[in-house]
Amino acid sequence: MLKPLKKAVMPVAGLGTRFLPATKALAKEMLPVVDKPLIQYAVEEARAAGIEQFCFITGRGKTAIVEHFDVAYELERTLAERNKEKELAALRAQAVEPGNITTVRQQVPMGLGHAIWCARSFIGDDPFAILLPDDLMQCEVSCTKQLADAYRETGGNVVAIEEVPRDKVNRYGVIDIKEDKGKLVSVKGLVEKPPVDQAPSNLTIIGRYVLMPEVIGFLAAMEKGAGGEVQLTDGMAKLIPTQPFHGLRYEGRRFDCGDKVGYLEAQIAFALARPDLAEAVKAFLPRYT
Ligand code: G1P
Repeated sequence: MLKPLKKAVMPVAGLGTRFLPATKALAKEMLPVVDKPLIQYAVEEARAAGIEQFCFITGRGKTAIVEHFDVAYELERTLAERNKEKELAALRAQAVEPGNITTVRQQVPMGLGHAIWCARSFIGDDPFAILLPDDLMQCEVSCTKQLADAYRETGGNVVAIEEVPRDKVNRYGVIDIKEDKGKLVSVKGLVEKPPVDQAPSNLTIIGRYVLMPEVIGFLAAMEKGAGGEVQLTDGMAKLIPTQPFHGLRYEGRRFDCGDKVGYLEAQIAFALARPDLAEAVKAFLPRYT
């Protein structure tokens, strides 16, 4: 029987250099899209997939992330006194069960694979999801839930994938296709940030994964890959000979909020999806085009 998917790991140790000076004293995962920080979108997406336990891989200067998911008694009392029911409900809705958020410090920036390895005690022998909060998803069904459903169907490892133009494949982990079944693609190999002319396909991994705990054993070797970093993609590739490994063409849209243009586009897309804001945004947009 398949083990249920209850755990998620979220690497949040990155420096956010592309958003300086905004990220000098503010964790990049706390940057808001409309009125919610990126990290909260990721947590809500995971909860919609039945995830209950969270591990944030943090670094220095990231304490605001943990504060964000704590109960803010003074704020709640003040809101209650002022009859701000809606705001109070919004705060309470984000609460995670006491004890269900763990943090681990990465200590040294050795790459995404190293960050995930840092969560090994949290992961134990269980399957786990990874969400990279920079990748903001706009999906009717939570992207992590789509992966969780696929995991229940296929067992083993499932990563969210999308097609990108050929000349952009060198920015991503790329899959080597064994069999393309449409929504699901079985995978025979993975390459991290290959040169454009050597990429096995233009199907790229986005920041959503469901992985089996055995990946930790491969990451522990600390082999350096693309960019001189310990790459998650290389650790995952080693799972392929012994475990099912699929890519899922998820339904929805991804915004790369690690990039200024992607982040700005996300603001517009998420504002337009909000009934309380859409009309006002539509009214001013033409002034800028
Ligand atoms: C990471 C992964 C890469 C993946 C990407 C998705 O790269 O290493 O395989 O395609 O996230 O956003 P990064 O964006 O951290 O360079």
